[in-house]
Amino acid sequence: MKNPQYQELKALAQEHLLDFLPEIDPKSSTLYEAMKYSLQAGGKMLRSVLVLASCRFAGGDVISALPYACAMEYIHTYSLIHDDLPALDNDDLRRGRPTNHKVFGEDMAILAGDGLLSCAFEAMNKDKLLYLDDLSKLKPRVLAAYEISKGAGCRGMVAGQVADVEVENRPCSKELLDYIHINKTAAMIMAAIRAGACLGGADSKMLNDLTSYGEAIGLAFQIKDDILDVMGDEALLGKPIGSDAEQGKPTYPILHGMDASMARLTELTERAIALMEPYGEKGEFFRELAEYLAIRNL
Ligand code: FPP
Ligand code: MG
Repeated sequence: MKNPQYQELKALAQEHLLDFLPEIDPKSSTLYEAMKYSLQAGGKMLRSVLVLASCRFAGGDVISALPYACAMEYIHTYSLIHDDLPALDNDDLRRGRPTNHKVFGEDMAILAGDGLLSCAFEAMNKDKLLYLDDLSKLKPRVLAAYEISKGAGCRGMVAGQVADVEVENRPCSKELLDYIHINKTAAMIMAAIRAGACLGGADSKMLNDLTSYGEAIGLAFQIKDDILDVMGDEALLGKPIGSDAEQGKPTYPILHGMDASMARLTELTERAIALMEPYGEKGEFFRELAEYLAIRNL
């Protein structure tokens, strides 16, 4: 996304991405290399940017949100590594490079995912330790860590992934597909926005608006992902298209048709933009982001 604020926050998160990993014993250097390989594979860093942007939107300091923004990126990266494993989607290519298990082996890829997930919680808890004696600073951090844990967990991303696995080659209702998309993908996008809002000290009206915005762009993000899997450019995407249909995965285009999928994407994007309208100039980043996510080609 060309928006200067997106570029600024992405560069900031990228610059500090390895700062919140613990110092690794040289005997575990393979683990560190495997984690770094996927962390630095050139993703959009959407979830970390969202933590920082919503923290700033709520009036907070982005530097203080970095441990949480990076934790989001660690969790997102673990989920991609595990999602690509032979037991799950069995993909060979991600972000234009061989997937983690293709380079480091299946055993190390599983452990690199485990490592990244643990590092996310270590990073957030280490940050909280600094504020044990200052409740006003500790509270937003506890809230943010809770939002991130919930979004990533068994009533969020993991739940969506379980349904995604179980529905393969089985009949799927439109309601179940929405459940999968909302949990597998939107839960982490909402968690990033809510965590940032908590860190920035948002009031309940702002938190509610940002949550509704996150829900709309989160579902729109996965619908667009489904559309790109049909009509995307493999070179830009950095992975083969058509893998959903090949694996018997229900998607928006399969269940709703391409026209209705596009219409739903537009409707969700417009809803997200409308939610940020009352915030005037301050909400411009979020309106532009919703627009970009609907037209993105990677
Ligand atoms: C691509 O994000 C990722 C998605 C569209 C989400 C799909 C959901 C999963 C992989 C969940 C897997 C869960 C488990 C528990 C294994 P992106 O386009 O932002 O990727 P980028 O970081 O490469 O830009
Ligand atoms: Mg998958």
